[in-house]
Amino acid sequence: MKLLVTGGAGFIGSNFIRHWLSRHPQDDIRNLDRLTYAGNRANLSDVDGGGRYALLEGDICDGRAVAEAMDGCEAVVHFAAETHVDRSITDPAAFLRTNLEGTGQLLAQAHQRKVPRFLHVSTDEVYGPAPEGVAFRETDPLTPTSPYAASKAGADLLAQAYFRTYRLPVIVARPTNNFGPFQFPEKLIPLFITNAMADAALPVYGDGLQRRNWLFVEDTCRALELLLEQGEPGGVYNIGTASECANLDMTHAILRALGKPETLIRRVADRPGHDRRYAVDCRRLQALGWKPRATFTEALTATVRWYQANQPWWQPLKERLREDSYHWLDRSAGTSAPGAVRASR
Ligand SMILES: NC(=O)c1ccc[n+]([C@@H]2O[C@H](COP(=O)([O-])OP(=O)(O)OC[C@H]3O[C@@H](n4cnc5c(N)ncnc54)[C@H](O)[C@@H]3O)[C@@H](O)[C@H]2O)c1
Repeated sequence: MKLLVTGGAGFIGSNFIRHWLSRHPQDDIRNLDRLTYAGNRANLSDVDGGGRYALLEGDICDGRAVAEAMDGCEAVVHFAAETHVDRSITDPAAFLRTNLEGTGQLLAQAHQRKVPRFLHVSTDEVYGPAPEGVAFRETDPLTPTSPYAASKAGADLLAQAYFRTYRLPVIVARPTNNFGPFQFPEKLIPLFITNAMADAALPVYGDGLQRRNWLFVEDTCRALELLLEQGEPGGVYNIGTASECANLDMTHAILRALGKPETLIRRVADRPGHDRRYAVDCRRLQALGWKPRATFTEALTATVRWYQANQPWWQPLKERLREDSYHWLDRSAGTSAPGAVRASR
């Protein structure tokens, strides 16, 4: 089978491509990626040149690029998105363009070409904050908070509309917070690991008691593989674990894993509209036979070790990020430690 993956030079997409190629030796993958600041050729340098993987540098909003990339493909796995919540607060337009318009372009062309399978990667953030004791089911209403989450909710609904209106065999996946190798170091876990390694401050938003459901990226890739193979067309599936953890507890766990002092923790002003808690009910996916393999502690330890062993991968990204990101750090000037950048999700 020939697959089109979008956004495969990013964090989850690159892990997914590596996973799929290793498990499906007959398959080929085309990766349509615009290579924004978050996309990185180096994430797939180990599979590049093997003849089964091709990177097509292009924009999912560009009809010609999408047509060329989708030609002859039997499945689409759509990851490409603007993904950083903080950036969506300062520049929502970029999120509307890629996340809504780009998804619309892909769906329209998949419909025109009668692509037999379209896996749309949404997010648990489309539900908005989960009240205490509640885990959202796939049928619950979408009440997103941030411009990022709202743009993803729009894309999610558009994907479902293509199933209802045109019977395009769309499957929607809603994963919770992911972490693991190759995650761009502006996101909470890699930001804190790499800051702590350099003895720089770990900027914790507000009281740090926002609770998240953390998922190891390898478990997400197995879930997406299962959904592409066995998900019901028109179906929506949450992907999550039972490991709910406050951001502050996560910060302590990272410091412990690295043997660094708690004095590195720096409280910063909270993000506007910061959701307190996310939680999803995953029984629908579990009924297909999926469950996470890694415990939270094992996955966090493996992730810390990966960042320790791969400094040449993340150091240049961090340098660039430091230069680029000061325009949105200005909003909270004086609240962050010098040289630190703020965390998403
Ligand atoms: N990381 C998480 O915790 C998480 C959780 C739930 C859902 N998701 C969803 O999973 C998907 C992947 O997330 P990620 O964390 O790997 O993202 P990422 O930011 O690491 O990667 C995004 C990729 O998309 C590419 N891209 C951006 N705009 C593009 C465009 N217009 N055309 C083509 N390519 C473009 C970027 O170059 C990059 O390679 C996203 O749709 C995100 O909303 C992520």
